[in-house]
Amino acid sequence: MTLARDENAAGDPNDLRPVPRIAIQAFCETSDVAELLEAAGADRRMSRAHLKVQMGGLPAAVEFYGSAPTPNLVVVESKGKAEEILGHLDGLADVCDPGTKVMVIGHVNDVVLYRELIRRGVSEYVVMPLTMFDVVRAIGELYHGPAAAPLGRTVAFIGAKGGCGSSTVAHNVAWSIGKTFGTDVMITDLDLAWGTAALDFNQEPPQGVVEALNSPERLDETFLDRLLTKCSDQLSILAAPAMLDRAYDHEEQDFDTIIEVARSTVPIVVLDLPHQWTSWTRRQLREADDVVIVAAPDLANLRNAKNLVDTLKAGRPNDAPPHLVFNMVGVPKRPEIKPEEFAKALELPIAAIIPFDAAVFGNAANKGLMIGEMDAKHASAEVFRTLATLTTGRREVRKGRKSALDLGPLLAKLRMRKAS
Ligand SMILES: Nc1ncnc2c1ncn2[C@@H]1O[C@H](COP(=O)(O)OP(=O)(O)O)[C@@H](O)[C@H]1O
Ligand SMILES: [Mg+2]
Repeated sequence: MTLARDENAAGDPNDLRPVPRIAIQAFCETSDVAELLEAAGADRRMSRAHLKVQMGGLPAAVEFYGSAPTPNLVVVESKGKAEEILGHLDGLADVCDPGTKVMVIGHVNDVVLYRELIRRGVSEYVVMPLTMFDVVRAIGELYHGPAAAPLGRTVAFIGAKGGCGSSTVAHNVAWSIGKTFGTDVMITDLDLAWGTAALDFNQEPPQGVVEALNSPERLDETFLDRLLTKCSDQLSILAAPAMLDRAYDHEEQDFDTIIEVARSTVPIVVLDLPHQWTSWTRRQLREADDVVIVAAPDLANLRNAKNLVDTLKAGRPNDAPPHLVFNMVGVPKRPEIKPEEFAKALELPIAAIIPFDAAVFGNAANKGLMIGEMDAKHASAEVFRTLATLTTGRREVRKGRKSALDLGPLLAKLRMRKAS
């Protein structure tokens, strides 16, 4: 609890942990707080985070997120009294994506208000005056504190058969998550011998997964940073060596540390798994927050996908079933299993269907571009956006829709009134 600044508790700035790769948007009411946040954003411990500071306080935040996705953290300043803050916060809660944290910077030292805010899901309430270090510490503790849940969500992609497009889908969805939600994404290419993440993003990384695997005792956020290859503002890859100078035999738990460190610093970690059934691939599939199975419309894919779905159901009885992506649909003259039959056999709905398009996918792969970069209007680009929404657990992007027309909260209130 950081209700008011306690001189003794301010602590040594040298013990501050770096803030992870989160997107932060702040809505301030006073220039003092805006300047304070800008100063915090320029501190080296915030260098991984993306911070945007604007004015307008809570009302501006509510208005803004009526038509835009919320970042990992929203910081709002309010000079108002308790009722005013609470009233606006309800509006903000209506438009916040799940997983978004809210921090309130207030000017009133009020324990009752603090408790009420925490009860309503606000992550932290801090009171001015604050120093720049207080701000960096308060943000860091949301993610590193003893009670903090791991920041990163892991999404594992696996193909029902080799070559059915699992990596292609994984990379395009990862790219789309970064683009659509402005969230940082890291692709971990776990197909050590043949992985294509670096090729697909036109990169030549000097190091990656193997260096991380070889030094688990050294592996922390800073070391991981050095092994990552940055593809864009939002996207980085931990590349596979894709060299055959050694054999890649690994133990069941060998990849645990990499994934643990990755998810402590990046909001979305995409695991591009090879089409293999080893103790470690099985473990990573079972442990992932979300699983995507990519399958092509033939019998071998159907059998393998069914086995994967059944195994996951048994190994993750308390999790949602995997998302099923039907890829390479509509190859001329090829007999294909229909999506409905596939879905029926697997007892799972098909989350997305991607048409076979040799020209567009072939060009994208050869040029090291994503489909969205080649042709943002291509039908598959839309499918990747849908999968980005699904795998991040986000709500639909409400681009272009004015908040005034957002009837969701209004309808919810009417329903509540009717019920009472
Ligand atoms: N929908 C599609 N249409 C045409 N080609 C595709 C499609 N999806 C993937 N491909 C191509 O198929 C090949 C294998 O894809 P890849 O993602 O490496 O498969 P996997 O990771 O499942 O082994 C790549 O050359 C890729 O460009
Ligand atoms: Mg692959």
